[in-house]
Amino acid sequence: MGKIDPNSPVPKYFQLRGILLDLIDDAELPVDAPIPSERELCQRFGLSRMTVRQAVDHLVTEGRLYRVPGKGTFVARPKIEMPLRLVSFTEDMRARGLEPGARDLDHRTTQANSNLARVFGIPVGAGVHVIERLRTADGEPMAVERSQIPANVAPGLLDIPLRDVSLYDVLETRFGVIFDAGEQTIEAGLADAADARLLDLPRGSAVLLFQRRSFMNGKCVELAVSTYRADRYQIRGALEIPR
Ligand code: GLP
Repeated sequence: MGKIDPNSPVPKYFQLRGILLDLIDDAELPVDAPIPSERELCQRFGLSRMTVRQAVDHLVTEGRLYRVPGKGTFVARPKIEMPLRLVSFTEDMRARGLEPGARDLDHRTTQANSNLARVFGIPVGAGVHVIERLRTADGEPMAVERSQIPANVAPGLLDIPLRDVSLYDVLETRFGVIFDAGEQTIEAGLADAADARLLDLPRGSAVLLFQRRSFMNGKCVELAVSTYRADRYQIRGALEIPR
């Protein structure tokens, strides 16, 4: 097991954070296992209570540990790494061995306002399908996704039941839509009351807000605004070298 190096320029709480992370990554501290008490950690590593608390607080904020009041502090599940690729939720979950799910929250056809008309290159007032779904992985709520798709691209889309079905699959097999480009913004946000209830989170919890535009032949075909649980997701992507 790692040791605290008193001569290291790395702050002691950060060293302890690293040691605890190693124990978690090596599964010596498995998911949902309690971590040793503050007193034990102080004794084992020769640290003050304040330093131990700082390390543990850090890991709680990072989502690697969670506290249960009156019970203790436990190892959290690792977050799902969201790829920066144009994949569907279904493909992404299946690739991880998780069963994807979709609950239909609402679907309707609205008329494009000037903003949507510009995004999709359609006339103001033209039909836009709006599909709101709760996405689940192995039954656990992960995200609320709101997709907008120009009605002329997929005319009968809303007649197809979308429960536990891949929207991208339906778009491809029924309407010949194959996305060939995409763009995404990611912002931090706080869950409002409705999303918090759907995602099974306390209101005001941290969430990741995604806005994705997916294109086919240079035309935007889906504008999706999604709220993902920040306690279950992190973003991972390759860094391009600037030229
Ligand atoms: C991702 C995207 C959404 C898209 C969805 C389609 O989650 N963020 O914009 O609507 O995939 O997933 P599926 O084909 O599983 O319905």
